[in-house]
Amino acid sequence: MSDIRRIAVNTGGGDAPGLNAVIRAVVLSAEQLGWEVYGIKDSYDGLFEDDGVIRLDRHSVRGITHLGGTILGTTNRGNPLNWPVTAPDGTVTYEDRSQRVVDAIKGHDIDALIAIGGDGSLAIAHVLSELGLPVVGVPKTIDNDLAATNLTFGFTTAVETATDAIGKLHSTAEAHERIMVVELMGRSAGWIALYAGTAGTADVILIPEIAYDMDVVCQKTEDRYAAKGSQFAIVVVAEGAHTAKGSMKYRETAEGQQRLGGVGKIVSDQIHEITGRETRELVLGHLQRGGGPNAYDRLLALRFGTAAVRIVQAGTFGTMVALDPPNVLAVPLEEAVSRIKTVPLDSDVIQTARSLGICLGDQ
Ligand code: F6P
Repeated sequence: MSDIRRIAVNTGGGDAPGLNAVIRAVVLSAEQLGWEVYGIKDSYDGLFEDDGVIRLDRHSVRGITHLGGTILGTTNRGNPLNWPVTAPDGTVTYEDRSQRVVDAIKGHDIDALIAIGGDGSLAIAHVLSELGLPVVGVPKTIDNDLAATNLTFGFTTAVETATDAIGKLHSTAEAHERIMVVELMGRSAGWIALYAGTAGTADVILIPEIAYDMDVVCQKTEDRYAAKGSQFAIVVVAEGAHTAKGSMKYRETAEGQQRLGGVGKIVSDQIHEITGRETRELVLGHLQRGGGPNAYDRLLALRFGTAAVRIVQAGTFGTMVALDPPNVLAVPLEEAVSRIKTVPLDSDVIQTARSLGICLGDQ
């Protein structure tokens, strides 16, 4: 018999379509077991704020399965393991506040935490678990770069959004006989770019896993113009793509944070310089994280949420729910956060792209 009575749930890191479906699944399945559920607002920030820990029941999660974002709010700033403290003279130092987080959760009489997050948030969850907090993680990220799970929810929705955008770019590219370069998210893994670029019939797809050569890219676009009936080209670039000698491109946000981005413009300008063709670039950006989850991501999120509650009930803490088709099971958090899942170079989708004549920048 489980002695769980009250559990908490939070959402951390960048949002992904399907977060609300997980929250609803957690609440409904926990209520069936007679447990109370509390939501911690804005990752862990709510623990230290008035009204930052709220009671969730079936009424508060009604009608949210299909909604994007997260009713609990999230943040990818202020990591409790590396918390910035500003001294009166303006000097910033960083301190580990993980024990304070554990104490605050226990102070709310919470028996276990279900932490929904990506690599950063799950690494935090792992530390909290090591400090003795009963934790079960739920993997989330549109990037699909978490090891130990076959898929993360939010990914296929992002791929659909990106595929739709690539499809729409075809007509305007063709009308102007231009080369359109679209930069997609994916941090250090090219899953979104590879899947959306292949499904959207791009001519070139550049991903972080394969260093690109601009001469190879331009040869491909020139070959398109030389062939009859295709006086345009679509180039998909993952935000972390780079040449063999180059490194990933970062930009600074208004808040002074470093974020990947800008490689699309570089590729676009270089194609213009080398070929003389008219090019345009766009960054699809946070559109890929926006909107509600598609049916697949809703279902995966609901499966993950209910599985997390069953794992809490079984007392298998320090774990993360993972998709191992056709099953959802528990894997150690340590394994889940040990490495990033990049696209294997022998992946079937890479082979598919190459067999379709799509240039991946290396040959
Ligand atoms: O990890 C998800 C992700 O969307 C990355 O693909 C992207 O680089 C990053 O988050 C953007 O973060 P932010 O929301 O801080 O701009």
